[in-house]
Amino acid sequence: EPLYIITPTYRRPEQIPELTRMSHTLMLVKNVHWLVIEDATVATKQVTRLLERTGLKFDHLTAPMPEKYKQKKGAKPRGVSNRNRGLQWIRANATNGVFYFADDDNTYDIALFDEIRKTKTISMFPVGLCTKFGLSSPVIKNGKFVGFYDGWIAGRKFPVDMAGFAVSVRFLLQRPNATMPFKAGYEEDGFLKSLAPFEPKEIEFLADNCTKVLAWHTQTKKNEPSAPLDMKLYGETNLVKLKL
Ligand code: UGA
Ligand code: MN
Repeated sequence: EPLYIITPTYRRPEQIPELTRMSHTLMLVKNVHWLVIEDATVATKQVTRLLERTGLKFDHLTAPMPEKYKQKKGAKPRGVSNRNRGLQWIRANATNGVFYFADDDNTYDIALFDEIRKTKTISMFPVGLCTKFGLSSPVIKNGKFVGFYDGWIAGRKFPVDMAGFAVSVRFLLQRPNATMPFKAGYEEDGFLKSLAPFEPKEIEFLADNCTKVLAWHTQTKKNEPSAPLDMKLYGETNLVKLKL
């Protein structure tokens, strides 16, 4: 059964290197369908070209962040319009298998993908964080779920990272109203709550009862876009056209 990977992305100097890294991980995985969704009105040609070169099954879609959130000062709901577009695609095109929200800048162990294929309803597993908390994870004691460990609980029912859960397509299709809210910090919690009714104890805990880290929430240093650095974005074919 297919594994749908929903990846939000947006144009910036780091975009092509991030997607190169991530695509080379996915190229090691069987039966994946990569939904790459850009926060843009027009799909970036260089991204489409990169996707074509991977040989992976993919769809390259666009879903711009609504203007009212873009204008907002402070924390923005990043990747939400993209992920909701991915869910819409799944509702229209998929009948079985599993989907997973995989941001373009994280780091994934290829063993993760065989784990999440096991998902019958909703599964959860640890995510490594490069912070002093080190980890976001369900806590399993003597084989039983006892709670969540996360550096930022903030009143959430499901204090988990975006990279810390997977959902079966059939389970989603039975919940036509499930959606991700445009609410910075509460995207995961809001989406998981929208999949109700289900309780934390019904979750399928993977990665050897949540004892293994197979996904890391890594972040690449942001770089200022500049004319020569844009070569990275435009790709090797434009290099020769650049007059330096
Ligand atoms: C954390 C969470 O892991 C994200 O899932 C969440 O959306 C985000 O915070 C948030 O709440 O704002 P973080 O690493 O801080 O992630 O955020 P980014 O990696 O910058 O963005 C998450 C995803 O959205 C990435 O795949 C990124 O490419 C995409 N994104 C980011 C956009 O599509 N548009 C943007 O303007 C920014
Ligand atoms: Mn990130």
